[in-house]
Amino acid sequence: MIGTGYVGLVSGACFADFGHRVTCVDKDAGKIAALRRGAVPIYEPGLDDLIATNVRAERLDFTTDLKAPVCDADAVFIAVGTPSRRGDGHADLSYVYAAAREVAAALDGFTVVITKSTVPVGTGDEVERIIRETRPNANVAVVSNPEFLREGAAIQDFKHPDRIVVGTDDARARQVMAELYRPLYINQSPILNTGRRTAELIKYAANAFLATKITFINEMADLCERVGADVQEIARGIGLDNRIGAKFLHAGPGYGGSCFPKDTLALIKTGQDHEAPLRVVETVAAVNDARKRAMARKIVAALGASLRGKTVAVLGLTFKPNTDDMRDAPSIPLITALHDMGATVRAYDPIGMEQAKMLLPEVTFCEGPYECAENAHALVIVTEWEQFRALDLDRLKRAMALQPAIVDLRNIYLPEDLIKRGFIYESVGRPRTKGG
Ligand SMILES: NC(=O)c1ccc[n+]([C@@H]2O[C@H](COP(=O)([O-])OP(=O)(O)OC[C@H]3O[C@@H](n4cnc5c(N)ncnc54)[C@H](O)[C@@H]3O)[C@@H](O)[C@H]2O)c1
Repeated sequence: MIGTGYVGLVSGACFADFGHRVTCVDKDAGKIAALRRGAVPIYEPGLDDLIATNVRAERLDFTTDLKAPVCDADAVFIAVGTPSRRGDGHADLSYVYAAAREVAAALDGFTVVITKSTVPVGTGDEVERIIRETRPNANVAVVSNPEFLREGAAIQDFKHPDRIVVGTDDARARQVMAELYRPLYINQSPILNTGRRTAELIKYAANAFLATKITFINEMADLCERVGADVQEIARGIGLDNRIGAKFLHAGPGYGGSCFPKDTLALIKTGQDHEAPLRVVETVAAVNDARKRAMARKIVAALGASLRGKTVAVLGLTFKPNTDDMRDAPSIPLITALHDMGATVRAYDPIGMEQAKMLLPEVTFCEGPYECAENAHALVIVTEWEQFRALDLDRLKRAMALQPAIVDLRNIYLPEDLIKRGFIYESVGRPRTKGG
């Protein structure tokens, strides 16, 4: 497994748990040293136990040097990062190509090289070209096998996927892939055998579709606020239709995270390059970008006044619960906007504060939700961590300034409960009501 980040580490540990012998490789010596000591560099529920069990069973180990493990391997996964390229939004494939070059030099015997990273259509062709350029006689098949796991539920997703996409025309490679995924196959997870280019595009199409669903319901939420309708009931009303489905219909502050923003952008670029512009996805990305900052205006509306000199408490910083990942989290542009409007920002996140401190130097980080709320004029719920769902509202009110406002960007509270307790309450796409 080349690249031991979220995807490489989770996939490596799960493949080891299936009974395969796995070596996770990473260039980051600190990460590998930590893993060898038994420390897990990311927060992912259940991952530390899974790694420990498989290390003990000698099915999983970690190294910075790919030569020996690649030489011995039947299958080599490339799971390195593919961030947005600075300036133009194309996927930056330099890590993938560098890994392909290094892998090529170490190959021995028939080996399946699998791109697990999310890569634009045609990348597999280039990976194959690089390998053949480095090792003209390499006995290799290059496969696309995109990963659909979600951070926060990554092990469950990897072990119980809705589908496994395998993109190759090579029969030997299909055989190796079927062996690798046999435990899931037995569990009836469908394996979808496709061409390599199709597999690459399936991943982007899936993420773009989900981003579209989120953005659609977010715009419906805006309309609900104007016309006095309730977006949660709209979501239920349409989600019960099997053709639509209930998932990804939660209105909120806009999508973020390590995948949707960069993958929608990369897909837009691919469409433009091939003169098949994806106008729906282009609009989705633009609408979502504008939304994150616009959420700050909700706080102004709730307080009915300028934020200058006001204190705002922010609960939840990571892009979603159960991860410490801060990449493209909606909390970042929101907090920047609050600062720009003159507010002082205090924040608390159960797991993500260490990562957040590096990105948000002007924020005062607090030990818990009640400390965070101290003397705050408004409290904003940005990430729906479980522990924020049942806050002691009276304690919160005592901690906050007079006439406190709660801006619930995840709709986890009932308006009437908060208004009864004397809060000004603002949520997303539900009729706006003032209390106090
Ligand atoms: N994070 C997710 O939820 C998720 C889900 C599905 C797909 N993906 C895709 O999977 C890929 C990896 O994402 P991630 O979140 O795991 O990234 P990450 O940044 O967490 O990890 C990438 C790792 O690769 C290492 N690396 C880079 N070049 C290397 C090389 N030549 N040799 C060895 N190691 C190298 C880096 O040091 C880093 O540890 C991306 O393409 C991403 O879009 C991510």
